[in-house]
Amino acid sequence: MRAFGIDVGGSGIKGAYVNLETGDCEGDRHLIPTPTPATPAAVGETIAKLLDQAEVSAQTPIGVAFPAPLRHGMVRFMANLDQSWVGANLTEVVRTSAGRSVVPLNDADAAGYAEVAYGAAKGKGGLVVATTLGTGIGTALIHEGKLIPNTELGHIEIDGVDAETRTSAAARTREELGWDQWAERLQKYYSALELLLTPDLFIVGGGVSQRYEHFLPLLDLQTPIIPAQLRNDAGIVGAAYLARLAQEGKFHP
Ligand code: BGC
Repeated sequence: MRAFGIDVGGSGIKGAYVNLETGDCEGDRHLIPTPTPATPAAVGETIAKLLDQAEVSAQTPIGVAFPAPLRHGMVRFMANLDQSWVGANLTEVVRTSAGRSVVPLNDADAAGYAEVAYGAAKGKGGLVVATTLGTGIGTALIHEGKLIPNTELGHIEIDGVDAETRTSAAARTREELGWDQWAERLQKYYSALELLLTPDLFIVGGGVSQRYEHFLPLLDLQTPIIPAQLRNDAGIVGAAYLARLAQEGKFHP
């Protein structure tokens, strides 16, 4: 069984078929730069182009991972894409531009869920808190294998500011922080999450997690903290998987 996953990011919109038995991407990965400004119409057109390029058949479930909390596709808050998304509905945008029905979901939820289904947290019970460190900080809560969608814990306040503005991977690059300086901020962030949630496992994803040996060993937490395994594909894989679950009536986006 295959489904198609799309991951909308700040710099690129990518998509691929996913084999749902193995969690592997199959065939070509398609990548189109995110249009600027990334308005709903422009992003909708890009998704339409991508679905065309990949020749996604009419019966294929399609999931779209998006960098905002979504309630039935509706965007109520937007941190890092064009503000004109606020009040727009991702499902309707894609229906208009591509004539396709898609399953909309938050990008960190997609990535985190993929790690539980196929990656670093496969078979783990209890409360898994998956985080993505990128332009922003995304979070996914999975309890006993069930996703609690749309948590926005990248925006908790630490030292009086929105955590992601100081602790994301982008903040490390922007401020040219050394690993140890960045780790101090990560320490505060994960300690706060630990206090709030008492998780059984933290997963750290996002591109920078491939260099985890530079910062994860510097953290002192009671909760095990491990790098994600699915790398750049996590959003695509999770979107495809949840699209299939939605089709089966087991996930209600
Ligand atoms: C957004 C989240 C998103 C995360 C990662 C945050 O700024 O508010 O919805 O999951 O960035 O893209």
